[in-house]
Amino acid sequence: MANTVTDTVNDTALPSSIDDTAARLLAHDYVAERALATTLFLSLKLQRPLFLEGEPGTGKTEIAKTLAAMLGRPLIRLQCHEGLDLAGAAYEWNYARQMLEIRLAESSGAGGTADGRDSLARELFSDRFLTRRALLQAIDPAQPLPPVLLIDELDRADEPFEAFLLEVLSDFQITIPEYGTVQAPPGRPPIVVLTSNRTREIHDAVKRRCLYHWVGFPDAAREAAILARRVPGAPQKLAAEVVAFVQRLRAVELYKLPGIAETIEWTRALMELNAVQLDPEVVNNTLGVLLKYQDDIAKVQGSEAARVLQQLRSEAQAAA
Ligand SMILES: Nc1ncnc2c1ncn2[C@@H]1O[C@H](COP(=O)(O)OP(=O)(O)OP(=O)(O)O)[C@@H](O)[C@H]1O
Ligand SMILES: [Mg+2]
Repeated sequence: MANTVTDTVNDTALPSSIDDTAARLLAHDYVAERALATTLFLSLKLQRPLFLEGEPGTGKTEIAKTLAAMLGRPLIRLQCHEGLDLAGAAYEWNYARQMLEIRLAESSGAGGTADGRDSLARELFSDRFLTRRALLQAIDPAQPLPPVLLIDELDRADEPFEAFLLEVLSDFQITIPEYGTVQAPPGRPPIVVLTSNRTREIHDAVKRRCLYHWVGFPDAAREAAILARRVPGAPQKLAAEVVAFVQRLRAVELYKLPGIAETIEWTRALMELNAVQLDPEVVNNTLGVLLKYQDDIAKVQGSEAARVLQQLRSEAQAAA
């Protein structure tokens, strides 16, 4: 039965508690807030897909990669896009090879009898002609270990595509009309992570089958911890100022706020320029690493950047 808690050999590799989940993520340089560690722990225990929605660059995709690494599972990634269909996501029949097989059967005379035609028809829809894509690979009973299946940026796919997912998400199975039903081995479903940037709402039927977590921007302490993990060589003062600056920038009304990915990139860029702390000039010259819209850059460049810098300096002084 899918969706039940089953003690299998592989469960021993799963985290034993919320603290253990957080600690093991941290050992792979992923700094999770308590709520995420809790939802993830539960999704592993209950064998339910994890649905992550949130701001760009806040660690949604990374969690699936980290999970695969920390559990020693293969990662199977389905990048969603407009026009994605069953053939691109789950399986497809290899028509060219099927045609070739038909020609060969014809030329050998095997297609001439009713029996011959029946066996040819069966053969044409067998394993040999089935091209397995991400969803089918993820539930393939031949997989030695249940993989991590990342269904990334589901909001980019067209709405009807979500209907294809329902069977996979609730029963870890796919029904192929000409072939039969393929199901993950009982008690060993793939670990499924879905992400969305919420450019549109995902259907309730998909959400209902998952545990949900909203991935927001981190607070200053967590962002500093992430930076320490991801850019360990950053000068302390620079790292502290970068975090303080980005945190403040997120309070400015911008079209696109910088994510954690941008904080990391900016720190690396500043280090390339040998900066040991922020100053108005270096901030103005490197804003393109942090902000990707000209209107946002124009808004921050100059007086706004100077104001934010001034503010964080005076606060740092007051705290000292
Ligand atoms: N909690 C975190 N701990 C450690 N690193 C993080 C964390 N969150 C984000 N990062 C870093 O930020 C980078 C970007 O994260 P990721 O690609 O997962 O973002 P995303 O939410 O999937 O963004 P998008 O919506 O743009 O795809 C990661 O490569 C990782 O280095
Ligand atoms: Mg992503």
